[in-house]
Amino acid sequence: MTIIDGKQTAADIKSEIAREVEERVAAGKRRPHLAAILVGHDGGSETYVANKVKACEECGFKSTLIRFESTDEAPLDPKELMDTIAKLNEDEDVDGFIVQLPLPKHIDEQAVIEAVRPEKDVDGFHPVNVGKQSIGLPCFHSATPAGIVELLKRYEIPTRGKKVVIVGRSNIVGKPLAAMLMQKGYPGDATVTVCHSATENLAEVCREADILVAALGRPGFITADMVKDGATVIDVGTTRVPDATRKSGFRLRGDVDYENAAPKCSFITPVPGGVGPMTICSLMQNTLQAAKSKD
Ligand code: GUN
Repeated sequence: MTIIDGKQTAADIKSEIAREVEERVAAGKRRPHLAAILVGHDGGSETYVANKVKACEECGFKSTLIRFESTDEAPLDPKELMDTIAKLNEDEDVDGFIVQLPLPKHIDEQAVIEAVRPEKDVDGFHPVNVGKQSIGLPCFHSATPAGIVELLKRYEIPTRGKKVVIVGRSNIVGKPLAAMLMQKGYPGDATVTVCHSATENLAEVCREADILVAALGRPGFITADMVKDGATVIDVGTTRVPDATRKSGFRLRGDVDYENAAPKCSFITPVPGGVGPMTICSLMQNTLQAAKSKD
């Protein structure tokens, strides 16, 4: 059994990006510039955005963090957010930007996603990028599925003709990952099944998988009996569960019962340190791609 080291792989990719950025700068080009908008104080989002800013430093990018306060008593006026998006769309110095999700409930998330110009949508969430991706055109790929695909590539895990089962049909993981893995070529050419809350005989379907992807956000949901001997298991879950032994008071738990499932696997991603660090890497790759598209 091989534990897929997302942390090390992400560090390798960030070094590769940093090297390329320094070469570009030496050739007189601008540093890639990523902006991030954070609304309110969601604990997970604060951590993600802080990690994105740190990754920008590691890659030699310029970064800008734009924060908006929003509380139940003083909710952010959505117009303020939309005006900022419009400014970033026009700002020549910004190569790409993201609006960290989830947003407070009174803000229409889909309208926000669609307000970002597709050429600057380094999250790959805009319907134009989603559509291009689904028919295999060049575009910004959604970060988490792109990170998963990169791990499969770097660990040389075969996908051609393999049965992939994805548990979870979210717009940012399940659906785009299914599209990527069914494309022609490597890492694709897989036979993909996407499971969700209405799937019958879920355990049976999972047991068929050569590559099982758990992306439903329910800690420990995938138990060892749902994993075929020799399968590759990719755990996308990162739920915060209370842990009194930690200073933070919580730890991250994946969607897979790792302890019992791991011995059956040929490859498995741990939580933390598996898919998580790769997601941010994909965002950096997209931002570099955005900067290069202006060459
Ligand atoms: N919230 C959880 N994952 C993501 C992501 O990849 N991008 C943004 N913008 N928000 C998120």
